[in-house]
Amino acid sequence: MEKQTLLYEGKAKKIYSTEDQNIVWVEYKDSATAFNGEKKATIDGKGRLNNEITSLMFSMLEENNIPTHFISKQSPTEQIVQHVTIIPLEVVVRNVVAGTLAKRTGLPEGHVLHKPIVEFYYKNDDLGDPLFNQDHIEALELAVPEQLEEMKELALQVNSILTTFFTEKKVRLIDFKLEFGTNTQGKLIVADEISPDTCRLWDSETDEKLDKDVFRRDLGSLTEAYEKILERLGGNLHV
Ligand code: C5P
Repeated sequence: MEKQTLLYEGKAKKIYSTEDQNIVWVEYKDSATAFNGEKKATIDGKGRLNNEITSLMFSMLEENNIPTHFISKQSPTEQIVQHVTIIPLEVVVRNVVAGTLAKRTGLPEGHVLHKPIVEFYYKNDDLGDPLFNQDHIEALELAVPEQLEEMKELALQVNSILTTFFTEKKVRLIDFKLEFGTNTQGKLIVADEISPDTCRLWDSETDEKLDKDVFRRDLGSLTEAYEKILERLGGNLHV
């Protein structure tokens, strides 16, 4: 398999075509962005860490019968994945209050929720990814009701699997974001990445933040935080 034409460049990844139209090549970049691209930095090694962590997470989800786009890790910073048409929604699952939920509700960061919350945000940089409800999504034809139901169900299943997995590694899964797409056969699958860029992960004993909040809030070294996560997942720190 070879990477061919650059199809898309996002904030954290580049996507290339391959000789197989069902498969694309993903390259993780060393860039960090926050607040809709307002804060930016290049962090050596971040691409490799997110590629390693995402590969581990997707392999684990596949073993638990969650359909994902992941096929294999190709190199320390690259993966091959199924080609999907992305549904323009960010699906966020929350177990504990943090981030924009703390802002929106006034509840303190760290407040444990009675049950997980699933939220949908419209993926649109110009609008700053607004929170949408089911009616907004259906009225704008971003997804059909069956897809929405399936996304919500899969997101909650992923939450249960990840929560169990991280708890064993002495990490609390506070919240995370998923993206979904339809593959060339029209099947809905989990796409994009699952890494400390897209999850809030706190140390179970100290509540130390081991995710992108380290960068967003200038709390220390992002690389050290992501390395701690990779180490606890049993991943390869030195490639
Ligand atoms: O910022 P907020 O509290 O809404 O984020 C909820 C979760 O979704 C966090 O884990 C955050 O890292 C993730 N997220 C993301 N990409 C975005 C927005 C949020 O990965 N564009």
